[in-house]
Amino acid sequence: MIYNIAIDGPAGAGKSTIARRVAKELSFIYVDTGAMYRAMALYLLRREVNKDDTEQIGNICQDAEISIEYQNGEQIVLLNDENVNSYLRTEEVGNMASVSSAVPRVREKLLSLQRKLARDMSVVMDGRDIGTTILPDADVKIYLTASSLTRAKRRYLELQEKGTVCNLDEIQKDIEERDQRDMNREISPLRQAEDAVLVDSSDLTIQQVVDRILQIFRSKT
Ligand code: C5P
Repeated sequence: MIYNIAIDGPAGAGKSTIARRVAKELSFIYVDTGAMYRAMALYLLRREVNKDDTEQIGNICQDAEISIEYQNGEQIVLLNDENVNSYLRTEEVGNMASVSSAVPRVREKLLSLQRKLARDMSVVMDGRDIGTTILPDADVKIYLTASSLTRAKRRYLELQEKGTVCNLDEIQKDIEERDQRDMNREISPLRQAEDAVLVDSSDLTIQQVVDRILQIFRSKT
């Protein structure tokens, strides 16, 4: 049997940590769709596109081939055959991804890759539109959220651990701007699917969220 679990939610809600753990518990593949949008954004930054020029973004994205490989259970994103994983987690790439992911031709390029992965194997896939657009028939749909302050604090600690100088207010502002862009774009906006279960992680530990999702999955299958 092939099972699909969709986890959507805003930036910093803990989706990737939680999705990765749920996938490990169930021996499913974890698919991080944000990393695909980030790889596309990296390509656009390298080509020095104008952020405000949607048509240019739509044209230039046609030259980027994104594919996925798995090494020791880790997702590797290949951009025109180059492993770009180590370039994806910067604020610059994240902000560009949030702009370029609103461009229909960028989304079209990644949609078939994401659907194909879920057709071929059991996956826990996280993103913004997995339950609403990519996998409308997923066995379990979770909408994972947390307050913007909680999310900003988590990001702040993460950056501090890496030794990056940062400011909590700025991070929170950035997160709120990204939420606005993701929720208000015309194509595939971030929203809770009607049949998704809402999980607010503000006052829960990672393990509590993981257990809740596993419980939902087991009750449905
Ligand atoms: O989840 P992550 O922060 O890596 O995603 C980066 C950006 O990619 C998000 O801000 C969002 O705009 C976009 N994205 C998307 N649809 C997805 C996953 C990510 O639009 N399924």
